This record gives sequence, C-alpha cells and structure tokens, in this order.
Amino acid sequence: MRTTKYISISSQKGGVGKTTINILAASLFHFLGREKVAVIDCDYPQHSLAGLRHKELAQLRADPTKAAGFQALGLPAYPIVSCTVTEALDVAQEMEGQFDLVFIDTPGTINVPGLLALWQQLDYVFMPLEADVLSVEATLPFAAALEAFAKGQPGSRLKQYYAFWNKHIKSEKQEFYRRTEELFSQQRIPFLTSRLEHSVNYKKEAMRSTMFPLSKEFMRLGIRGLMQELSQIIFADEAPALAKVTLFTEADKAL
Ligand SMILES: Nc1ncnc2c1ncn2[C@@H]1O[C@H](COP(=O)(O)OP(=O)(O)OP(=O)(O)O)[C@@H](O)[C@H]1O
Ligand SMILES: [Mg+2]
Repeated sequence: MRTTKYISISSQKGGVGKTTINILAASLFHFLGREKVAVIDCDYPQHSLAGLRHKELAQLRADPTKAAGFQALGLPAYPIVSCTVTEALDVAQEMEGQFDLVFIDTPGTINVPGLLALWQQLDYVFMPLEADVLSVEATLPFAAALEAFAKGQPGSRLKQYYAFWNKHIKSEKQEFYRRTEELFSQQRIPFLTSRLEHSVNYKKEAMRSTMFPLSKEFMRLGIRGLMQELSQIIFADEAPALAKVTLFTEADKAL
C-alpha cells in the first residue's frame, strides 16, 4: 500500500490563491495523475471549497446534460470533507492508507487552535505569494512558524515548505521578484521555479471545478509546470515519479 501524502497550499495571507490552487492541484492529480485524492476543507467558517462542491452538485441536479457529462467521465468525484481545524487532524489520520494524496485547505491565519498539530501531519506545504510587500511580509513569519513548530519536531511528517509566485505578471516588477527570491534564499526558504500567471480566466467557473477536468486551454498559465514541479517533490521517494511527470505533459493533450 502506498503511503498517503498530505499537502497544503497555505499561507497566512488572505486572497493569494490558497483555495484556488488546492482545488486545481486536487483536480489535476485526480483527473490526470489518476491518484486517489481527497480534500479536507477546514477553512472554517468560509468553507469555500466545500461550498463550490455543493454548488456544482446543485447544478448537476438541475441540468441533466451536465449530469450526463459528469457520468460520461466515468470517474467519481473526489471526496471533500468540511470540518474545523481541530477535527481535521482526526479526519486526516482516518484517511491514512485510503488515499494517495490529501489536500488540506486551512484558514488564512495561524492563530487557530489545532493548527500546529495539523501542520505536523502535512508532508509538504506550498506557499503562494503575490508580488506585493504585504504578501512577502506575511510569508516570512509563516515559513518561520512552520520551521519552528513543525519541521523537525518529534512526530512531525513535515519535510519541507516552498514558496511560489501566483498571479505572476511577466511584464511587471521583475526586480521585486528577483529581490524577493534572493531574500528567501538567504532565509533558506526554497522557491519553486514555476509561476502561475495572473489571468482573468480564474474568474471562470470552469477554472475552479471540483468535478470536471480542467479544460486544455487553461493548462497554459503556468499550471502544467507547477503540477510537474509539485509531482516531482511529492513523489520524489517513489519510483514512478518520472511517469507522473510525463502525465502532466502528455495526458492533458488527450482532454
Ligand atoms: N493566478 C491568478 N490570476 C488571477 N486571479 C487569481 C489567480 N489565483 C487566484 N485568483 C483569484 O484571487 C482570488 C482569491 O483566491 P482564493 O480565494 O483562492 O485565495 P485564498 O488565499 O484562498 O483566500 P482566503 O484567504 O480568503 O481563503 C479569487 O478571486 C481567485 O479567482
Ligand atoms: Mg481560501
């Protein structure tokens, strides 16, 4: 049996794309990677991820064509469990051995009971960052807290946390990007090389579906590169890692 990997796209900065990227990653590993995926939404009281699933289920009930489209996929939707942070640890531990990948959407603040224990259950944390000072200033102490309270603590699974750019705009702030990466490197916080581009497509429902595969046209925008990089990190200890990387370059062409 494969070991379950627990992943969170997380930070203590609001609106940087945590929920969006948790969904994207969960859906892509589910549909393209064919991993057994589950999601825990403990971003109480927002539960925006679980809310999206409820909305999609209601749409399916109201629209027979859409329901038929979902049936035709031949792949059941991955489970999304909504709970509090305190409950999330038990939920996560119950999932051990039943899923390949568990994505956990946590609240955007670290001052929440149970969060430190939950961090210790995570294998990897990926911290989205926007090109603004507030985003940088919020991410540095967040990484420091992960280092102090989770990574290397007895019984903690946390292997590493990584920063990466979201809402990247190629034509802007190149000096800001460069200097931030330099600062993070000095603080020994690794940065992913992939960047998710800023795009109005993120406003489209199809971009944040929890039940349908991401349409091929959206795989640009840096998403493919990010998924490859996540895959290489998450499955570094497994032999089929290379095959999975190929999946994200080839399988989406068939969609
Ligand atoms: N790469 C992107 N380009 C453009 N818009 C984006 C991008 N990523 C996310 N967004 C948008 O940014 C907004 C915030 O995203 P999201 O809700 O995922 O952030 P969050 O970090 O989970 O926020 P919160 O702290 O409220 O939980 C959403 O409207 C989303 O569509
Ligand atoms: Mg969110």
